[in-house]
Amino acid sequence: AHVLHITGARPNFPKAAPVLRALSKRGVPQKLVHTGQHYDERMSEVFFQELGLPRPDINLGVGSGTHGKQTAAIMVGVEELVTESRPAMIVVYGDVNSTVAAALVGSKLRIPLAHVEAGLRSFDMTMPEEVNRIVTDRLSDLLLATSADAIAHLGNEGVAAERIHLVGNPMIDTLLANIKRFDAAKARAEHGIEGRYIVATLHRPGNVDDPADARELVAAMHAVADQAQVVIPLHPRGRAGLAAAGLFTHPSVTVLDPLGYVEFLGLVRGADAVVTDSGGVQEETTILGVPCLTLRPNTERPVTITHGTNRLATRENLPGMVATCLAAGRPETWPVPPLWDGHAGERIADVVVGHLER
Ligand code: UD1
Ligand code: UDP
Repeated sequence: AHVLHITGARPNFPKAAPVLRALSKRGVPQKLVHTGQHYDERMSEVFFQELGLPRPDINLGVGSGTHGKQTAAIMVGVEELVTESRPAMIVVYGDVNSTVAAALVGSKLRIPLAHVEAGLRSFDMTMPEEVNRIVTDRLSDLLLATSADAIAHLGNEGVAAERIHLVGNPMIDTLLANIKRFDAAKARAEHGIEGRYIVATLHRPGNVDDPADARELVAAMHAVADQAQVVIPLHPRGRAGLAAAGLFTHPSVTVLDPLGYVEFLGLVRGADAVVTDSGGVQEETTILGVPCLTLRPNTERPVTITHGTNRLATRENLPGMVATCLAAGRPETWPVPPLWDGHAGERIADVVVGHLER
């Protein structure tokens, strides 16, 4: 019997890598599934090359589609696989469609399910990720949480305390394991950056899908570019949405294809501020001590605000918030959320092994 890991989208890969490594150290047989939700070289393959992840045993090749089509295709593929191979446990990561699809399949086939990054809540049901998180948590046997607020949400939802474990943040394991490779000087040289600069990532449907929103977002980013150079490694959804709004025309904005993990965090490490709507980037900037302005009305990661360098911003107040960040400079010291210490993968492996041995 083996542990089956389900991955598929960019943010899954840095979360899964330390868990696979820690379970492998404990001699646990494992299989890795890539659903194919993300498939561009820069959205997928580059993470396997850089993070020491094993090759996926299976790639389901589902590709893009509507939520219904994509989720259903993942379910069909995972169901066939799980029916055939009967894993002892399925581990799912984060809040993407691959996560919820595998959770639905696993629970119907009565396979024990572990959710890494359980309990995060934005309380905003307009976000597809919030739906995915709630459903996945409801179906999970082991709820592995990155922060105390997540534990509280699960408790409020009636999840039995013995199923919930505060394990820390495996995405930060990957960050700390690779931090020596994040070379800000190299990133500057590569992208012709002189002086102060801001890195932005934009891909949330709520920011980029609607053309009117996208136009306002482009205007806000142009007002940011009046203050410092702006570099935007752009997610394919962001590119499609913002292209409909004419994309960026300001001479101080550089739009790039998505970057590999090491190159991206090299760029972030040297930045004066980050503007983002990513979940993972809010966490990574918290550890790197880079001021982060999150272009969203809410965050499911409030510890990045209470402990880290994150603040919520709107399109309207973004330029002013960037000015404040630039005037204040980067913080000298800042608190770090408890257990974001590079050892979450090991704690997760301990909980998983404990469950398998019951
Ligand atoms: C997904 C996740 C989101 C996560 C993001 C991380 C869901 C519901 N959403 O959003 O939570 O923050 O990944 O990056 O699971 N595309 C490509 N190449 C690829 C992949 C996608 O061009 O390799 C394009 C396709 O046009 C596709 C669109 O991007 O339709 C959206 O991809 P999808 O995986 O559906 O959602 P994301 O916006 O990437
Ligand atoms: N990332 C990357 N290259 C980029 C942008 C992001 O390697 O050009 C990494 C980032 O460091 C983090 C992960 O991708 O580890 C976050 O994924 P994303 O923002 O797509 O998803 P979210 O966290 O919002 O679900």
